[in-house]
Amino acid sequence: MLFVGRQSEKKKIMEALNGGKNIILSGKFGIGRTRLINEIAKLSNERKFVFVDFSQTPGKMSEKIIKALGIPRRLKNQTKQMGYKSMRCRIANTNTAKGHKPVIVFDNIAKVTAQKKIFLRHLILEQHYQFIAVVENFLPQKDLFDLKAQLMPATTLNLRHLKQQDVENLLRGYVAQNHLNWKENYIHHLASLSDGYPLGLKEMLIKKGNPRKQKKDLKKNYRENMLIIMLCNDLL
Ligand SMILES: Nc1ncnc2c1ncn2[C@@H]1O[C@H](COP(=O)(O)OP(=O)(O)OP(=O)(O)O)[C@@H](O)[C@H]1O
Ligand SMILES: [Mg+2]
Repeated sequence: MLFVGRQSEKKKIMEALNGGKNIILSGKFGIGRTRLINEIAKLSNERKFVFVDFSQTPGKMSEKIIKALGIPRRLKNQTKQMGYKSMRCRIANTNTAKGHKPVIVFDNIAKVTAQKKIFLRHLILEQHYQFIAVVENFLPQKDLFDLKAQLMPATTLNLRHLKQQDVENLLRGYVAQNHLNWKENYIHHLASLSDGYPLGLKEMLIKKGNPRKQKKDLKKNYRENMLIIMLCNDLL
């Protein structure tokens, strides 16, 4: 799906990164946090972004980072691969940056366990990286507070719904991509019905663009309505 809007958020994030800050990005599920950072990563050629799923164990996250940064997992003259703690130490102490520091994006932060807190502390300590923490709205306050303290200095951003103009642009892009002949007032009408929630829009477009699903839904609705009529008849 075409990417639309978020100019001010992109600007704020780029400014924070250029100013050597970390970022804490919050917002409800499906609001477009991961997509926004993906788009920023695509635009910033000179910076390396590593996306890590924070719901995984520190060991798994370390494996991902080591691989993405091209750090060897075997020590010289050794056949054995490094364990979690050696990996963590290696990541923290490796300076892979030629220019800008690599950005580690911790996505899906729903909970910060004691083990993960230690993991973060090690990675942050040597200051070889910048971090973007994508947090869930239901992250406990205490965890959010800890995270903010660890990632200082950090810029905090809360992502909101898309503006109507952005939704219209998204629909226009969709129409062009799918060679549809929706009229401008129909696009305007659809955009004004939507509340600018990206996940909801995506689902709406999938439904609209899939006539077989539409037919299936119609049949399902028909069957459900018939059932209600039969039940009512029985009751009367
Ligand atoms: N600005 C945008 N323009 C176009 N599509 C968008 C935009 N923001 C989000 N989307 C689309 O909306 C959907 C949800 O976005 P995304 O997965 O980034 O949300 P999220 O906040 O990371 O939530 P979660 O992690 O719970 O899925 C995706 O399909 C994404 O491509
Ligand atoms: Mg996400």
